[in-house]
Amino acid sequence: MIFTDYDRFKGFIGSFPVILPEELLLIRNKALLDHVPIIRDDTQRLMALLMQEKRPERILEIGTAVGFSALLMAQFDTALKELVTIENYEPRIRQAKENFSRSNAPISLRCGDAKEILLTIEGSFDFVFIDAAKAQYPDYLKLIRPHLSDGALIVADNILQEGRILEPKEALCRRDRTIHKRIREYLRLVMEDQALFSTLLPVGDGLALSVYQGNSIS
Ligand SMILES: C[S@@+](CC[C@H](N)C(=O)[O-])C[C@H]1O[C@@H](n2cnc3c(N)ncnc32)[C@H](O)[C@@H]1O
Repeated sequence: MIFTDYDRFKGFIGSFPVILPEELLLIRNKALLDHVPIIRDDTQRLMALLMQEKRPERILEIGTAVGFSALLMAQFDTALKELVTIENYEPRIRQAKENFSRSNAPISLRCGDAKEILLTIEGSFDFVFIDAAKAQYPDYLKLIRPHLSDGALIVADNILQEGRILEPKEALCRRDRTIHKRIREYLRLVMEDQALFSTLLPVGDGLALSVYQGNSIS
């Protein structure tokens, strides 16, 4: 594949970043300085648009980092009643708590391993953002399934893995091979599941969007 045109195309799209309020801009800039992986600028714009279009009442986020995407979603979602977000890395938990404390958004941070926390969550969600351990995406999907309301939207980030998803697995190091296999498995699951309607977008590092069409179909 020739990446030159693709990179120019991405650069052009990236030249229209979402306008962030000052507080979020500071969190974004600090995260970038500290090498904390947060959603990319073009992903931010899409997430903000999805929030305004869908106006979810209950959001589940897997992978908080320092709380940037949670606060972004809360900022643009005028119907939000609760956003549950999960993180297991102590230094980021501390920073996320601090960032959330300066906001009035109804965010509950659950600390610990995502798969364990997902076994304990209650109620249903109308928007799920998957952005934690890439090798665990298929497990997350199974665990969130009973908590999806009809019409729920699932967004999974980093499905392109900077282009590595296109490579034959033999060309990758052992760790990347596992991620490669598990993300491909996730994509197969969401594309083949009759109860989900999914599409893939080359936004940011690649997004899989899936709409849960309800229990009657599964
Ligand atoms: C890409 S970052 C999340 C970025 C965040 N969504 C944002 O855009 O602001 C992924 C986060 O998932 C966390 N994570 C990775 N594996 C996890 C696990 N097994 N349980 C909980 N959190 C995990 C990492 O510590 C990291 O902070």
